[in-house]
Amino acid sequence: MRRGRAILSATHDSLPDHVGNKLRCTSCHLDAGRRENGTWVGVFARYPQYRPRSGAVETIEYRVNDCFRRSMNGTAIDPAGHEMRDILAYFAFLSQGTTIAGPAAGSSSRLQKWAAFTADTGAGARVFAASCAKCHGVSGEGTAVAPPVWGPQSYNLGAGMTRVRTAAEFVSRNMPFDAPGTLPDSQAFNVAAYINGHPRPDFRGKENDWPNGDPPPDVAYPTKAHH
Ligand code: HEC
Ligand code: HEC
Repeated sequence: MRRGRAILSATHDSLPDHVGNKLRCTSCHLDAGRRENGTWVGVFARYPQYRPRSGAVETIEYRVNDCFRRSMNGTAIDPAGHEMRDILAYFAFLSQGTTIAGPAAGSSSRLQKWAAFTADTGAGARVFAASCAKCHGVSGEGTAVAPPVWGPQSYNLGAGMTRVRTAAEFVSRNMPFDAPGTLPDSQAFNVAAYINGHPRPDFRGKENDWPNGDPPPDVAYPTKAHH
């Protein structure tokens, strides 16, 4: 369990062959996965679970590897290996006492509130310069204190964070890191759109996502099954 937690917070040092950027798992799953947004508390009891992005019932091992391949721009780890076992031991520890259930209640309805916003990336650029650049770098490249938010060392195009609503929810609840919850919703939405308007690594095969033709409206790329 402790080794799993160490892998999740020192991901590149632990698994250099499987990480293709400067992020660590806990760059987005803050407080070692105990922050409400992006929480791993209870995650062990939420899988296996049907997910529309793959159109399949996913095991928790599959879901962990989805973040390796997309959010970390890396490659899957052995689902039967000891690193996976240790990561899952930590998730099980965090999930003690939770009821076995499907997707976290209300997770998609929380994102729904962002449907009311229209992105203004010019305004987002001003928010970024005023509230984010001091830690994430003026060119989003990251600094010694915070990871990149765009460019070759960031999450790839297939990552959940490339959805503007997902990024807006994350930013609104967690950023600025030293003053979370202080950005007005419109500023969180605009800066999320600004960040996601920049180039980042591609994710090969992303057009095969949502094979049943039901992508959420803010997905950043066309999918084959959606007409
Ligand atoms: C760039 C940000 C980011 C990074 C880095 C990241 N994740 Fe995620 N992760 C997300 C987001 C966003 C979601 C929720 C996706 C959704 O359904 O919209 C998620 C979901 C998950 C889930 C499912 C949670 C649930 O309740 O269903 C697991 C498990 C997970 N991540 C594990 C990992 C692991 C392990 C790593 C490191 C190898 C990692 N993540 C790195 C953003 C990230
Ligand atoms: C005081 C420094 C600081 C400020 C200011 C700040 N961040 Fe962060 N941010 C961080 C740190 C540190 C992390 C990663 C946390 C970790 O690894 O434990 C992070 C993580 C992130 C992530 C997820 C990981 C990634 O790099 O993709 C995003 C997205 C993000 N911040 C966006 C923003 C936005 C947008 C703003 C401005 C509204 C902002 N941050 C302001 C320090 C900061």
